[in-house]
Amino acid sequence: MRFGTLELAVVLMCAVVLMLPDVSATRWTVGGNQGWSTNVNYTVWAKDKHFYNGDWLFFVYDRNQMNVLEVNETNYESCNSDHPLHNWTTGAGRDVVPLNVTRKYYFLSGKGFCYSGMKIAINVENPPPPPSASPIKESNDSPSSNYRGQIVVPAVFAIAAVWDSFLRLYW
Ligand SMILES: *[C@@H]1O[C@H](CO)[C@@H](O)[C@H](O)[C@H]1NC(C)=O
Ligand SMILES: *[C@@H]1O[C@H](CO)[C@@H](O)[C@H](O)[C@H]1NC(C)=O
Ligand SMILES: *[C@@H]1O[C@H](CO)[C@@H](O)[C@H](O)[C@H]1NC(C)=O
Ligand SMILES: *[C@@H]1O[C@H](CO)[C@@H](O)[C@H](O)[C@H]1NC(C)=O
Repeated sequence: MRFGTLELAVVLMCAVVLMLPDVSATRWTVGGNQGWSTNVNYTVWAKDKHFYNGDWLFFVYDRNQMNVLEVNETNYESCNSDHPLHNWTTGAGRDVVPLNVTRKYYFLSGKGFCYSGMKIAINVENPPPPPSASPIKESNDSPSSNYRGQIVVPAVFAIAAVWDSFLRLYW
């Protein structure tokens, strides 16, 4: 009994088609190589960047010290971390935040670090119409991480295909 090769090919082709709409999404490593720390002026870091609906922020930091809290504008300005709108801290020191609404987002680190500059305001815009030439955006700060979203979907389909073959062989 030989199953699976053709099905796997078909499933992978479907995965390629499905992932196309996501090609232009960017995962931004906040602060670039410096990450989420007291060494970066995040107003300056964000100033020349465009954040689009569908992008992600990736906060990389010392999990024993800092955290990632989403707050409103008032609490952003005053560094008040007592009433977060959303606690994005997972505990690993590597938190991903989907920017899936076109609006302003405000983040800060609690534990006093906001006063040392660990706060960032992000204006999320609607994506521009795709240019005819190259739809792939590059983030200067994290060029290698842009392909993450393109790997996950095919991986899920590949696992499903393997599982399907497995079921057909044994049941
Ligand atoms: C932010 O939340 C605080 C309560 O934590 C509230 O007093 C303030 O008016 C809110 N600001 C905005 C801009 O919504
Ligand atoms: C945020 O969530 C993390 C992980 O669940 C938790 O350890 C931490 O205490 C929370 N922080 C705040 C300020 O709610
Ligand atoms: C945006 O993402 C958050 C977190 O994953 C989710 O809770 C929320 O429902 C999403 N909102 C929209 C409009 O998709
Ligand atoms: C970041 O830089 C801007 C512009 O130079 C400045 O106005 C702001 O005070 C700086 N922020 C911090 C936290 O140093």
